[in-house]
Amino acid sequence: MAVRRRGRPRKNVSSHEKQLMSKIIDGSCTVGVVGLGYVGLPLALEFAKKGINTIGFDVDTTKIKQLNKGKNYIQDLNADEIYDVVKRKKTLRSTLDFAECSECDVIYICVPTPFTPNKEPDISHVLQSATAVAKAMKPGQLVILKSTTFPGTTEKFVKPILDASGNKCGQTYFLAFSPERIDPGNKKWNTNNTPVVVGGVTDACTDLAIAINKQIIAEIVPVSSPSVAEMEKLLENIFRSVNIALVNELAQLCDRIGVNIWEVVDAASTKPFGFMPFYPGPGIGGHCILIDPYYLSWMAREYDFVTNFITLAAEVNESMPFYVRSMIEREIAKQTVTMKKAKVLLLGMAFKKDVDDLRHSPALKVAELLFDDGINNVSYYDPFIPSVEIHGKTLKSRKELTATNLKRHDVVVITTDHSSFDIEMIVKNSKVVIDTRNATKNVGGPRRNIVLLGDGE
Ligand SMILES: NC(=O)c1ccc[n+]([C@@H]2O[C@H](COP(=O)([O-])OP(=O)(O)OC[C@H]3O[C@@H](n4cnc5c(N)ncnc54)[C@H](O)[C@@H]3O)[C@@H](O)[C@H]2O)c1
Repeated sequence: MAVRRRGRPRKNVSSHEKQLMSKIIDGSCTVGVVGLGYVGLPLALEFAKKGINTIGFDVDTTKIKQLNKGKNYIQDLNADEIYDVVKRKKTLRSTLDFAECSECDVIYICVPTPFTPNKEPDISHVLQSATAVAKAMKPGQLVILKSTTFPGTTEKFVKPILDASGNKCGQTYFLAFSPERIDPGNKKWNTNNTPVVVGGVTDACTDLAIAINKQIIAEIVPVSSPSVAEMEKLLENIFRSVNIALVNELAQLCDRIGVNIWEVVDAASTKPFGFMPFYPGPGIGGHCILIDPYYLSWMAREYDFVTNFITLAAEVNESMPFYVRSMIEREIAKQTVTMKKAKVLLLGMAFKKDVDDLRHSPALKVAELLFDDGINNVSYYDPFIPSVEIHGKTLKSRKELTATNLKRHDVVVITTDHSSFDIEMIVKNSKVVIDTRNATKNVGGPRRNIVLLGDGE
């Protein structure tokens, strides 16, 4: 694929491009955001805060109703800011009616890209959104796909749908891919200060996508095509998946040889160059690191290519809940209680620390595996997760984390290390604590009842 040279003035700037560019620069454009979840709502909020007229689109009636009342449903966002842009500034309104896409100058698509039960990409939400946008398309619009997906999605799947509206890409409408980098729960890096990558179908598409992103983001990184941007996003997530798999494998080895992997990683991290720390855990979850690598390995097969690193990393990471299950069962076996009667308490169900996101959480998998083995007395405590379903049944939830609750259980497992957990209290009042996150690192004195993943204790 040819690399376009950037930075030279272009000839033949279309009137649609000129008009859209001036609306973007003076902030008089209307921005539409399709899919108001963890990615779409923060994005819509940033434009609305900037005073840009913003319309949110979603298929979820509850979300639309809540938003139009000025109510926030994403834990990471500031509820007052949502109320302010909806009720006071009135720069954000939301709708189920996709025909209103015709009122937008720029439309971001931020819908889910899950996988099927056989772990193949499911881009149906992207295609549905593109179809809805195409139906309402008017000349002079810019469409930016943000959903993480395999290289070629924007040009081979989304573009033909938009072209069918009768408009011409790069002339009467514009199309780009610009992946999302939001990290829910991250206090340092947010929408404004995290650079974003942009790859347009044509130079005009890239320039317009840069301009609109600049309204809310400090640094924009243009690349030569949507495929480069799509692949770049997958590289970011595969990089994490592979490195996490490496420490997960080493954690299992350290368990055998009695060396503490956490101390090893911390020591290695003192090297000022060439090393970046990754930590082991009960597995990976969320909507990104677990799913995205499969998008690339699926696509690679079409080119008779096997992505060995991706497959191996997935195998190791997805074996971790099984490993944690065997740690739990070993601790039960050491006690007088039978598997059937053993009481297990999982602390933290969210897929990572201090977030309310349960999607593909390894803690869910651990609970499911325990049930499959006939350990039915499993309950959980997680201040961010009000209810959990396993195999269609509601998992018993502890509303509070008290000494009495802890004492009632034969094994307590720290599956997610939320900051609010009182670790000293947990260790003091539990028979056995299986710590999969090194949350007990600062617990002094005898650590007889702590079983730490990756140190052979
Ligand atoms: N969550 C993250 O931290 C994160 C980070 C980077 C990239 N991403 C990527 O961003 C995309 C969106 O992820 P998310 O976490 O925001 O998902 P989400 O599930 O939180 O939100 C998606 C929203 O889209 C809506 N939706 C579904 N189908 C729709 C349709 N046809 N039309 C309109 N709306 C529809 C859903 O109701 C939901 O509100 C995914 O591709 C994901 O991989 C997510």
